[in-house]
Amino acid sequence: MNSLSPRPGVATPQASTSSTRGLHVITWGCQMNVYDSERMSDVLRPLGYRAVSTPDAADMIILNTCHIRDRAAEKVFSELGRLRKVKEARAEQGAATVLAVAGCVAQAEGREILARAPYVDIVLGPQTYHRLPEMVARAARAAGAVIETDFPVEQKFDFLPADRAAPAGGSAFLTIQEGCDKFCSFCVVPYTRGAESSRPAQAVIDEARRLVAGGVREITLLGQNVNAYHGDGPDGRTWSLARLARVLAGELGIERIRYTTSHPRDMEDDLIAAHRDLPQLMPFLHLPVQSGSDRVLAAMNRGHTADDYRMLVARLREARPDLALSSDFIVGHPGETDADFADTMRLIDEIGFAQAYSFKYSSRPGTPAAGAGMHVPEDVKDARLQELQAMLRVQQDAFNDATIGQVVPVLFTGRGRKPGQVSGKSPWLQAVSAEGPDSLIGQIANVDIRHRYTNSLGGILTEETDRA
Ligand code: 5AD
Ligand code: SF4
Repeated sequence: MNSLSPRPGVATPQASTSSTRGLHVITWGCQMNVYDSERMSDVLRPLGYRAVSTPDAADMIILNTCHIRDRAAEKVFSELGRLRKVKEARAEQGAATVLAVAGCVAQAEGREILARAPYVDIVLGPQTYHRLPEMVARAARAAGAVIETDFPVEQKFDFLPADRAAPAGGSAFLTIQEGCDKFCSFCVVPYTRGAESSRPAQAVIDEARRLVAGGVREITLLGQNVNAYHGDGPDGRTWSLARLARVLAGELGIERIRYTTSHPRDMEDDLIAAHRDLPQLMPFLHLPVQSGSDRVLAAMNRGHTADDYRMLVARLREARPDLALSSDFIVGHPGETDADFADTMRLIDEIGFAQAYSFKYSSRPGTPAAGAGMHVPEDVKDARLQELQAMLRVQQDAFNDATIGQVVPVLFTGRGRKPGQVSGKSPWLQAVSAEGPDSLIGQIANVDIRHRYTNSLGGILTEETDRA
């Protein structure tokens, strides 16, 4: 086949909105992937692609992947096997399907994907999403699949469309920083997402302004290391996250601001002060500590001790007494002993977390911990994880129980699970549902909390609520 013949099963794209095509994006992993998936949809909109809810109705399917923990690649291949059947069934009906794999597995294992799943048309890493229209065009022309896993010199954000659609529900993610230079022993992010880089403050402000104009009341600023943000400011200076948050809360009037994920080492004084000064900065902070053992923290290359974390939390709570904390924990990092694990349990007991994520250590090829030896047996990891999650569950339930009887402002982001219900988030990121009209979606209203369920709260709208 010469290079000009269309690849079988690939539609030729045209820059036109006259004929719409179906786009189905499957998103795995972190909130940054959720944001990236939205932006990939934005970049494909001028080609006529519109979201469809099932892959069999899609002219293009994007699988946006995550590489952070175990069996990531196997999970991708099994999903691709399913999507291959969809593609074949559509081909039998005479419909072409472009199949793309994006995200961190694409970045790390792009060649392997093309070798094992030759029916994939496009493989693209997280830094190349702005090139997607060109890749779709190339996939249509080329005899082979298209792979783009470079870290291009241009910043993808400069090339993504500015007229981003504001999501319904009043809450939006906004990526302000990407990549990581911390090189924790266990983590693939510095390799898959690359070196740390911050978007210019003005670009962030402009994007936030458009979101606010589209009805957004809450913005969650995203970055792998979001509090390391150091973007070029419009005044020629380097802006910190705190400086950015002050402008978003002040000039733009955003009612709720959140940011995630933070590293304890980058929790600077001005950011702690912003928690004291800005009511718009929500009283919930995801601040992963990973372990409570100084030995393990050192082996993880985290750059701080357990006491540093305790002191930091004390300062944050002094600045914002109702601050709720969340963390990530890894059990069974190479070399972790029973005594180390006991230190982690002690730290959890002392701090008191409103919520947390916890994982068994999984060896990621190419990371320093993978080659370190002293791996902890699987059954030991299992037992530690169970014990740790039991303690975190007790803390989470206690935190949620403490809101029963309180009236809390809830940003309603969508319908609830039961008919006639709407659901949303409290300032402390608790899921709350209440009976109420759809007109509340995108609005903030007070709810009298009456019940705690396993992972959410239920209540009733208070009388003074404006239901307009
Ligand atoms: N094994 C287990 N958990 C990991 N995480 C990152 N890499 C690994 C790994 N190799 C967890 C960390 C991180 C979260 C996003 O995922 O706790 O904070
Ligand atoms: Fe990974 Fe550590 Fe960077 Fe977080 S700070 S992304 S855990 S290397």
